[in-house]
Amino acid sequence: MSAPSEYEESYYEKVSVIASLLEKEKKEEKVKKLKEEFKTQKGKLYHADCLEILPGIKSETVDLIFADPPFNLKKEYANGRSDNLSVSQYMEWSKKWLDECVRVLKPGGAIYIYNIPKWCIYYAEYLSSKLCFQNWIAIDMKNSFPIKDKYTPSHYGLLYFTKGKKPRIFNKQRLPIQTCRHCGGEYKDYGGYKDKMNPLGVNISDVWYDIFPVRKGKNRIYNELSVKLLDRVISFSSNEGDLILDPFGGSGTTFAVAELMNRNWIGIELGDCGVIKNRLTAPDKDEEILERIRRDKNVLFTKKSIKLRKKNGFWLPEVKE
Ligand SMILES: C[S@@+](CC[C@H](N)C(=O)[O-])C[C@H]1O[C@@H](n2cnc3c(N)ncnc32)[C@H](O)[C@@H]1O
Repeated sequence: MSAPSEYEESYYEKVSVIASLLEKEKKEEKVKKLKEEFKTQKGKLYHADCLEILPGIKSETVDLIFADPPFNLKKEYANGRSDNLSVSQYMEWSKKWLDECVRVLKPGGAIYIYNIPKWCIYYAEYLSSKLCFQNWIAIDMKNSFPIKDKYTPSHYGLLYFTKGKKPRIFNKQRLPIQTCRHCGGEYKDYGGYKDKMNPLGVNISDVWYDIFPVRKGKNRIYNELSVKLLDRVISFSSNEGDLILDPFGGSGTTFAVAELMNRNWIGIELGDCGVIKNRLTAPDKDEEILERIRRDKNVLFTKKSIKLRKKNGFWLPEVKE
């Protein structure tokens, strides 16, 4: 005698639920076994493919994600992976890690993704159905090369999305007025409004002209981003003690800045992790840079421009004794 069909259906339903739970458990087990490569009091670095580690991170536990993936520009990476995929292959791969990032982000959490505009278009379209779009930040490239039949590409995109309409954290900061480094005169004409200006400086727009995208120096082959870029993102979108995730560690800029700003972090890097370990073990250089960045924000004029402006007789706000 065969069982009534509704029994059979419910039996198969239960079997498939159990199978998917076992599959999930297997994945989590596997991730637990992947020991971190390096640990500090605030963070853990995994030497692995991010698609192996991300599924092991609990849902809605991360406050801020910064991701700077390979741009698929046929670059040679030490990790031996192809950086020359078709659009559909690159997006198929990207959607996998983007989905994981969306899953692990806390409600109100923020994700920033750095890439060239060609890929930002696809990323923004994909993420718009899952998160809330806040900004497409343009980071001025400084040195760009002309390309035939096109306007010269001159910015990197930094997409900023949040889980839910309102970010949980948005610690507004300000920048000094942009001045000429030779004479101290301001570039923009503020007319008669100078003395009404906020003494903490001007608002930060979605065009970042004051940041060198890639830091010059010895970690260039890792596409090391500037400390200033990470300082801005981390200070705006997290507080001390928050958890930051970067699935594409490179030279470890995100982790170095997170450490110095008292944030917790999870890092993943498929290639060589030696440079990250060295950087985190000897943080003096990054600390020095951060110190300089801090000195030059939330002021109307930097110390250097005040000196020049005094010398050349330009307006300066009255200092109350
Ligand atoms: C553009 S670099 C990141 C640079 C980093 N933001 C910095 O400031 O140093 C991208 C990094 O992602 C790593 N990578 C590529 N595919 C990966 C994957 N599937 N999982 C983890 N890391 C990966 C590459 O080895 C490379 O170091």
